[in-house]
Amino acid sequence: MITDILQKTLTTFKRHQLAFIYVVPTFQNPTGITMSIERRQMLLELATRYDLPILEDDAYYDLRYSGTPVKSIKSMDRDSKVIYTQTFSKILAPGFRLGYVIGDREIIRKMTIAKQSIDVSTNVFVQYIAAEYITSGLIDKQLEKIKVMYKRKRDIMISALTNHFPEKCSWTLPNGGMFIWVTLPSNIDTKQLFFEAIKQKVAFVHGAAFHVTQEKQSTMRLNFTNTDDDKIEIGIKRLSTILNKKR
Ligand SMILES: Cc1ncc(COP(=O)(O)O)c(C=O)c1O
Repeated sequence: MITDILQKTLTTFKRHQLAFIYVVPTFQNPTGITMSIERRQMLLELATRYDLPILEDDAYYDLRYSGTPVKSIKSMDRDSKVIYTQTFSKILAPGFRLGYVIGDREIIRKMTIAKQSIDVSTNVFVQYIAAEYITSGLIDKQLEKIKVMYKRKRDIMISALTNHFPEKCSWTLPNGGMFIWVTLPSNIDTKQLFFEAIKQKVAFVHGAAFHVTQEKQSTMRLNFTNTDDDKIEIGIKRLSTILNKKR
């Protein structure tokens, strides 16, 4: 979240047109980027000035492999402006679909009512599994294990990109999370590239999928956590071969 741009954007709306500010400040999906402490503070100031709640989705917070941890926005929140949420999907099992939220009591009450109208209540069995996992200390062991594994996979993907991708491409160097955001030369439409890549059994999420307008983009999200170590390099090599033919 680039807070200077947000500040300008906020002035173009009336308060009743805005519900809240949604932000994934740590190892963001799709870029893997982490917001600096200065921008976090600025965001909080803007939320106070415009009387807007912030929904801080910190799904990737625990998946840090390098760099210094940055405080959550919630931890700096003095006026109950922040609704903080995390999920077990990224640290216990994918698709687990259990999370938690910390926030103002009245907002939580309203969220509970809204949720009840969708699913009556969260799967109780899954909650028991999570509770056992936490209290037995297994979650800490699991975290240590996956952090070592994901760091290794991140490093393999970054080296493969460095070794094989054409010169005019750039990418983020995430300190955690699951994704690397790649920017290709502007003549390349990653939506078209996707169909070429999939024929070679390589998949990614094309950049347009992350834009409201769905306009042509030259960016793509690569996931490094899911694939076997040896297949990461093979996949990047196959993408490079396609890209090199376009030059
Ligand atoms: C930022 C972010 N929040 C939440 C989720 C989903 O969490 P859950 O599986 O608990 O719905 C994801 C990914 O699936 C995500 O990237």
